[in-house]
Amino acid sequence: MLSYRHGFHAGNFADVFKHFLLVYLLKKLKNKKPFSFIDAFAGAGKYFLNDPFMKKNKEYLNGITKVLSSNIKDPFIKDYLDLVKIGNFNNKTISFYPGSCLLSLMVLDKKDKIYLSELHNNEFTILKKNFEKNKNIKIEKKDAYSFLNQIINFYKGNKLILIDPSYEVKNEYEKIIKLVKHNTNQFPSSCFLIWYPVLESEKTYLFIKKFINTNVQNLTHINIQLKNSFLRMQGTGFFIVNAPSNMKNDVSEGLETLLEILKDKNFKAQINFNTF
Ligand SMILES: C[S@@+](CC[C@H](N)C(=O)[O-])C[C@H]1O[C@@H](n2cnc3c(N)ncnc32)[C@H](O)[C@@H]1O
Repeated sequence: MLSYRHGFHAGNFADVFKHFLLVYLLKKLKNKKPFSFIDAFAGAGKYFLNDPFMKKNKEYLNGITKVLSSNIKDPFIKDYLDLVKIGNFNNKTISFYPGSCLLSLMVLDKKDKIYLSELHNNEFTILKKNFEKNKNIKIEKKDAYSFLNQIINFYKGNKLILIDPSYEVKNEYEKIIKLVKHNTNQFPSSCFLIWYPVLESEKTYLFIKKFINTNVQNLTHINIQLKNSFLRMQGTGFFIVNAPSNMKNDVSEGLETLLEILKDKNFKAQINFNTF
């Protein structure tokens, strides 16, 4: 049974890096039509700061709040922040944080398609309530591991697939590798963005090693070490399959800026950006 609720973590440093990259990819890739965004592990899509989950750990204070109060010049961070501010009175304090679903709805054009799958009962109910009125969005309570293949196949044209699991199930790292290997093989021209947490354990190291060893073609790996002393999560990382050719050039400065803002100043922090 699933127990993870993204509301406990929404807007934290990992979300900031993830959504910065997501907005960049959506804006780039949507130019080639038809375009579809598939969010296989969708969450609730919108997280209110006065919600009991958000109030518990207030992880956003070490994430989006710090970025919103910084002087940002990077145009790609600005693109992301502009979306966070929409509906939030356009100032430095926010009443809700937008998840991947809401960000995609704000970036994409009306004729683009959005598919959301979410397996947790309560998260699914909230997700439906938040988005069911939008005609270009399809929402299903489906297990991404069983159905992703059929879903990708259903949408024609150019696609971005976000794989953003909660890593709460036994063997989930292995399941992700299998899922990605299978689907990138079957859909070699689609773009995939895969998120993972950096924990201080062998698990993260082995996951990265095994993922790279799959020999998935056209792979980009971004590994961000924050050495944050308070959270179990010491960093965050992403695998991107079929990234736009100038992605490194476009996002490197933004990533470094975010790292400067979000890192714990008492520890060494670094970003490794590799392509395979
Ligand atoms: C990290 S959260 C998603 C956050 C969201 N993508 C965002 O960026 O705003 C992961 C979500 O995946 C859901 N989930 C876990 N296993 C799943 C599965 N097998 N199929 C579909 N959803 C699943 C969880 O219930 C949780 O809400």
